[in-house]
Amino acid sequence: MKLTREQMLAEMGIAPIWRLRDSPFAAAGAEDDTAPAERGRPDATDVIAAATAPDAAVDSLDWPGLSARVAQCRACPLCEQRKQAVLGVGDLDPDWLFVGEGPGAEEDIKGEPFVGQAGKLLDNMLAALGIARGRKVYIGNAVKCRPPGNRTPEAGEMAACRPWLERQIALLKPKVIVLLGKAAVHSVLHDDSSLASLRGRRFEYQGIPVVVTYHPAYLLRNLPEKAKAWEDLLFARRCLRETLATGRSELAF
Ligand code: URA
Ligand code: SF4
Repeated sequence: MKLTREQMLAEMGIAPIWRLRDSPFAAAGAEDDTAPAERGRPDATDVIAAATAPDAAVDSLDWPGLSARVAQCRACPLCEQRKQAVLGVGDLDPDWLFVGEGPGAEEDIKGEPFVGQAGKLLDNMLAALGIARGRKVYIGNAVKCRPPGNRTPEAGEMAACRPWLERQIALLKPKVIVLLGKAAVHSVLHDDSSLASLRGRRFEYQGIPVVVTYHPAYLLRNLPEKAKAWEDLLFARRCLRETLATGRSELAF
């Protein structure tokens, strides 16, 4: 498959470049004051700047700093139609981190992830595991702003938002990560294989076990698959227990 230049940059994690100054990659004060749109098409210098701009600004953010930056973020076109950016919700010292796709209409209004129908199912799944939203659980998304019409976020949008998610994970230090659907898998594992082929396997992100399962919205449309999601959650719980027993996630940071 031949990729366009934008797609290639997205794959390398350095797109979109049309708003480089606002990107989470951009170092404060490192850019000129001209809006990229006024400078015309990005050239090779922009690309190199994007690729090499220090992550340090993001890597040193504490939680309030991260939250403030995300609220202001205009690094991808999803900022245009959002009511607000939705960082996530839950315990800031979690065992579990669930990562979904992106806010829907209700989440965009309330500023909290998974508050609609899919969220109710997620809460039921958590309850079945004996855990509750906000207690040893954090819930976030691959992109923080609502894709218009609830479309799937594009690769460039997920790439632009990824540094925020990465910083969230570094600060939260969860003991297991559950990826809900393809967008979360793309963002965290950089893998676009089918969910069916990824389920039931233990991946790692920065030394933290990662488990893949279906997105609750998919489960609402395919109820028989709920049994598989339940198996996945039980598998994730086994991974969590192993981590707790060995203290492995402490090693990663
Ligand atoms: N679907 C998601 O992926 N995330 C939400 O926050 C809500 C619905
Ligand atoms: Fe920024 Fe992410 Fe929102 Fe795009 S989706 S504007 S990268 S917070």
